[in-house]
Amino acid sequence: METRKDKDSHTAVTVIGLGAMGTALARAFLRGGHPTTVWNRTATKVDELVGEGAIGAAAVADAVLASKLLIVCVLDYPAVHSALEPVGDALAGRVIVNLTNGTPQQAREMAEWAATRDAEYVDGAIMAVPPMIGGPDTVLLYSGSRAAFEALEHDLARLGTAEYVGADPGLASLHDLALLSGMYGMFAGALHAFALVGTEQIRATDLLPLLVPWITAMTAELPGIARQIDAGDYTLDTVANLQMQSVGFANIASASADQGVSFDLLAPLKTLVERRVSDGRGADDLSGLIELIRKRQR
Ligand SMILES: NC(=O)c1ccc[n+]([C@@H]2O[C@H](COP(=O)([O-])OP(=O)(O)OC[C@H]3O[C@@H](n4cnc5c(N)ncnc54)[C@H](OP(=O)(O)O)[C@@H]3O)[C@@H](O)[C@H]2O)c1
Repeated sequence: METRKDKDSHTAVTVIGLGAMGTALARAFLRGGHPTTVWNRTATKVDELVGEGAIGAAAVADAVLASKLLIVCVLDYPAVHSALEPVGDALAGRVIVNLTNGTPQQAREMAEWAATRDAEYVDGAIMAVPPMIGGPDTVLLYSGSRAAFEALEHDLARLGTAEYVGADPGLASLHDLALLSGMYGMFAGALHAFALVGTEQIRATDLLPLLVPWITAMTAELPGIARQIDAGDYTLDTVANLQMQSVGFANIASASADQGVSFDLLAPLKTLVERRVSDGRGADDLSGLIELIRKRQR
């Protein structure tokens, strides 16, 4: 099938889903000079982008037929199926780049479904919020067909740095959810910190000059933790043993109770620290907690 190109050979692209993220993706392609067709379940969202130069598709089938490259970014995988199932036959020969958040299993199943429609499939994950799309520090992760990814890498770079993480379609999602886990853990700790100082009328913004450099400095501990995990040796170069840290956790819990702050966000971590210490692993670093959460061996 011919890829439709403009006179500057910009790949034609269709963006399916015009929520906050899909709209940002479509705008990045428009800025890059790509003929950009857009479709959204709620048709009114198409109008604004048409005003910016996009081609509005009234039906999802028209959107699919307009471009070989289909970027899909909707709420979840059931929404992807609901948009694409009715046009399954039109997908043959096209490349679906699915940037919808989901699980590795959903991505693998979607890749199998796309293959039954003779479409190539690349799964993606956006490590950014919409205003960052197309910006210099924006990274998107991709997995699945390497050939399809490499053929599109130049076009996908319109959205941000394109990182290919492997042929298993589930790997972009796995990395995405891992990175989001790191982010939410950090936010959970920060929320607890804001709540604690807030009990003494210290504003959250007033804590920032201390909190941000502290969290930034602590990220320098991550390589050591990663080395301990890879080595399976949780005492490797440790300077902060769990026995000591368990006392600190007990103090945070106790002070939180005194100050009238629930310990819900951090309680699971404290429980695991105590379990590890009572298992005789008090000389280990915090990294040893991974042994308590892994449910299957590597
Ligand atoms: N926003 C972010 O900061 C961000 C960052 C990284 C990744 N993401 C991911 O990007 C994806 C889209 O997020 P968003 O922020 O654009 O969400 P959003 O603003 O809530 O938009 C959701 C989109 O999904 C569509 N949709 C929902 N159910 C549908 C269905 N059954 N059939 C067809 N379309 C359906 C909506 O269509 P209607 O307009 O018709 O409702 C809309 O276009 C999500 O997977 C999200 O995790 C978002």
